[in-house]
Amino acid sequence: MEPVSVKAIMFGPRGILFVKNPRDDLELPGGRPEAGEGLEAALVREVSEECGLDITTTSYLGSRSCEIIPGRRVLLVFFLCEFTGQGLTLSEEHSAYEWIDVATEKPENLPSFYWEFCQNLDCVRVRRLHAAADISQQTAATYPLQTGESDRQRLQIMSSIYDPATKDFLRRYLPTEGRILEVGSGHGQIACWMATGSPRSTVMGLDICPNQIDLATSAAQQLGLTNLTFRVGDAIRFPDALRSEGAFDLITCRFTLLHINERTEAIQALLTQLSPSGTLVMEEPSLASLFSVPAVAGFEQANALMMAYGWINGIDYDCVEDIWSIVTGLDVNVKEARFSQPTVWRKEHKEVVYLSFQQFRPQLIKRGLIDDERAETIAQSLAREFMDDTVISGGLRTLQIAISPRGERP
Ligand SMILES: C[S@@+](CC[C@H](N)C(=O)[O-])C[C@H]1O[C@@H](n2cnc3c(N)ncnc32)[C@H](O)[C@@H]1O
Repeated sequence: MEPVSVKAIMFGPRGILFVKNPRDDLELPGGRPEAGEGLEAALVREVSEECGLDITTTSYLGSRSCEIIPGRRVLLVFFLCEFTGQGLTLSEEHSAYEWIDVATEKPENLPSFYWEFCQNLDCVRVRRLHAAADISQQTAATYPLQTGESDRQRLQIMSSIYDPATKDFLRRYLPTEGRILEVGSGHGQIACWMATGSPRSTVMGLDICPNQIDLATSAAQQLGLTNLTFRVGDAIRFPDALRSEGAFDLITCRFTLLHINERTEAIQALLTQLSPSGTLVMEEPSLASLFSVPAVAGFEQANALMMAYGWINGIDYDCVEDIWSIVTGLDVNVKEARFSQPTVWRKEHKEVVYLSFQQFRPQLIKRGLIDDERAETIAQSLAREFMDDTVISGGLRTLQIAISPRGERP
């Protein structure tokens, strides 16, 4: 029989983890089981030794007999792995690592047997299909959260965690009188606050989802805000009617570009709607910034799975770096930029993690990232271990950034 080697397929935000061997070829982490060792145990040991990462779950994907080097065949056994770990540390066995997007072009030094296996994974095929699809259909197909009434409780908690810092930043750019637009306005908390704080301005909330617009509109009516309206529309394909009504003095969005993979196009589209002295204020997070003290396995696994869901849909939920590099590549003035990260320690706030995971859960199962039994274990860990009074956590670190078209003084 051919020798056996177990191989880990681990998704990060930029793709699948490959390591560079002494032949300068890229390979999946893993190796040979030792005498008496099971395949999964061998995988856990090899990945820990080679990369310093802890595998938390493994799911068998398949096996292939492959000619690793001319004349030498090995039976490769592939597992999809979830993992945790403080950082990736390579052993002397490998000289470098890369996260590779296998839905794009194959690097020359990546053997085709790895490439073909990874390309045929269900999740990669789904991603390729989505890449070819229409942008707005894609947003609708990949937006993982519920909308309308079913997301009311979660968005209310999000609002009480994140609103203080958002308002603190945004109030510096709120005009006393002008036109204001919030894109991806959700249930309208921030739009209502802006309309109240700047009564001589007209405020508009735009959201792709009609359910959200219904709830936001009734919130504005209950508050008696006559300077605030909400409309259904896409942040990228700006409604013509809106365009013809004039430029905006302030455009803002929060936790919205997070769900859009054409971020450059979205930011450019928003800039074209600004008046020459207008400001675009964005606040978007990095999902990878979440942590708990002490570490809770279910919390780490839930976050890793949500990141992986984004990746297979072509969306990097670690979007701080992405937004900063887009902004610095555009012809704009950066007026102000800062990071914000709230501490999430009250029980009523910590519950948001369970609620978010439960909303993602059917999507994670549908995309084959997890089975129901595993999802239930994570949900239980979030409902019990993570909710314990001895656990505190860092919420999403966000980048708050205010930019204006070039020409205006910063
Ligand atoms: C996570 S919610 C955030 C809501 C609100 N901004 C807040 O911070 O509470 C994201 C919102 O963006 C909307 N959205 C997603 N993609 C969009 C797009 N392409 N154009 C407009 N809205 C979009 C969703 O419908 C959802 O209401």
